[in-house]
This record gives sequence, structure tokens and C-alpha cells, in this order.
Amino acid sequence: MTVNNRVVWITGASSGIGEALAYEFHKKGARVVISARNKEKLDQISQSLGENCYVLPLDMMERNSFGEALESVLQKWGRIDILINNAGISQRSLVADTDITVVEKIMMTNYVGPAGLTGLVIPHMIERNEGYCLFVSSVAGKFATPLRSSYAASKMALQGFTDSLRAEVHHQGIRVSLIVPGFVKTAISLNALEGKGNQHGLMDPNQERGISAEQAAKIIVKGIEKEKREIYLGMVAKTRFALFLSRYIPSLLAVVMRKAKVT
Ligand SMILES: NC(=O)c1ccc[n+]([C@@H]2O[C@H](COP(=O)([O-])OP(=O)(O)OC[C@H]3O[C@@H](n4cnc5c(N)ncnc54)[C@H](OP(=O)(O)O)[C@@H]3O)[C@@H](O)[C@H]2O)c1
Repeated sequence: MTVNNRVVWITGASSGIGEALAYEFHKKGARVVISARNKEKLDQISQSLGENCYVLPLDMMERNSFGEALESVLQKWGRIDILINNAGISQRSLVADTDITVVEKIMMTNYVGPAGLTGLVIPHMIERNEGYCLFVSSVAGKFATPLRSSYAASKMALQGFTDSLRAEVHHQGIRVSLIVPGFVKTAISLNALEGKGNQHGLMDPNQERGISAEQAAKIIVKGIEKEKREIYLGMVAKTRFALFLSRYIPSLLAVVMRKAKVT
């Protein structure tokens, strides 16, 4: 799908990959709707983008606000061509130390919210026989590591949702893709939740060495232009190896994971 002149709604656009996507789409001539909870940050981004940017604060845990948010985009620009479900929150805690409220928060933000929002947007795309829905997953949506039980579960749920939706709407002209980041240098580990719901607050060495959010955004937009079913980025040798094992020798991966040093 070409991106010039498209209306692109990006969740989690106040930081990291989502923010970089807003700049990249805008540079390519798209009109961007930027959503997240931090309105101040969204306003700053909007100021540097200028025209063709609509600030729409949205909390992915507040499902009752989704309908109104959608209506405001339709009123503003009449349609949504591309929806990027990017908002997400990570985890740094053992199952034994994790409150159920943390499990809920991660599942609501990473899976239930995106599934609900997409469910509202998709009828409008079906009506026009055109549209593109994307979901930002993770390598943790392909194989799970220690300290990420609910994060991996939420991203694996997105995999199932994406595959099911794609099969449902392909014949109606709608494309559905999964984005699978490995390591991207963003605040994801700083914002990750520990077992009692507190923020982890530490930069993960893997993210520190990861590709930039700007590089990630360029790869994602290219993937969208090529309508790739799954868009991989920020992979390193050990994640490629783990992906290979998860596909072909999962029993060996289970042994590797028992000994994995995960931060
Ligand atoms: N960075 C990586 O290495 C990596 C690897 C794999 C997958 N990912 C995925 O990439 C996506 C983007 O993450 P990032 O790396 O760019 O991290 P980030 O810099 O922490 O950005 C996360 C974004 O999600 C938003 N968000 C969090 N909770 C929200 C909520 N309840 N409602 C609405 N927005 C919410 C945040 O905005 P507010 O706080 O303003 O709401 C922020 O804009 C996530 O889905 C993440 O799981 C990242």
C-alpha cells in the first residue's frame, strides 16, 4: 500500500517506535493521528510536525473511550486507511512475584485494547473495501523467555488475533500484518512493569545496543509499502537462533531457556 495521502492512526505515538513512525509517515505525505496517554508529549510532536497531524489522547486500558476516539478521527479526516496498534508495556518479573493487577494491565494494554479498537475500526474499512491493520508484537510473541510471562502471553495473543483477522478480511481488500521487533533502542525497558506494578526504570543492555527507533520506523513503512505479512526488525544472532529453534526444535529451545540469562 502506498502511504502518501493516507490517514494513519498510530497508538503509543508519544515515544519510541510509535513516535518515529509518526515522523516517518508524515515525511512520506501521510496524515497522522497520534494517540497515547501523555498529551504533552503528543502536543510537542504535533508542533514539530505542523500540518496533517491530529493529537488524540487515548488510554488503551479505557475501552469505553474507543468509540468516541474513532468518531473524532472520522469527523476530522473521514476515514482510517492504516491503523497501527503499537502501544505496549513490557514486564520484568517472575510469575511467583507478579500481582494479578500487573497481569491485567499488560494484557489490557497489549492485547485487549488493540483487539477492541481494531474491532471498532474494521467495519469502516470493510465498508470501503480498503484498509490496513497492523499490530506491533515482539520476538516474545514467537518464543517466551523468563521474566516476561504476561508480556509474551499478550504478544502471542496478538499473533492469533492477527492471523485470524487476516483470514477474515483479506477478500474484502483489507491487509493485516504483524510487526516483530527484536531490539530497538527505546524506553520500553524503563517503562516495563515489575511484579508489584512499579516501573523497572533500567535500560536493558539489549535495547541499548538495538537499532534506533528511526531505523525501525523506516523498515516498518517499507514493509507496509510491500504489504509484508510479517515485518521483522532489530534481530540479532541469538534471537534468530531462538526463532529457528522455536520453529524446528522447540524441545531444545526449552532447555536453552532454562539457562538463559535474561535481564
Ligand atoms: N523496543 C523494543 O526493543 C521492542 C521490542 C519488541 C517489541 N516492542 C514493542 O514495540 C511497541 C512500542 O514500544 P517502544 O519500544 O516504542 O516503547 P516505549 O518507548 O516505551 O513506547 C511505548 C508507547 O506505548 C504507550 N502506552 C503505554 N501504555 C499505554 C496505554 N495504557 N495506553 C496508551 N498508550 C500506552 C506509551 O505512551 P504513554 O505512556 O504516553 O501512554 C508509549 O508511547 C510496544 O508494543 C512494544 O511491546 C518493542
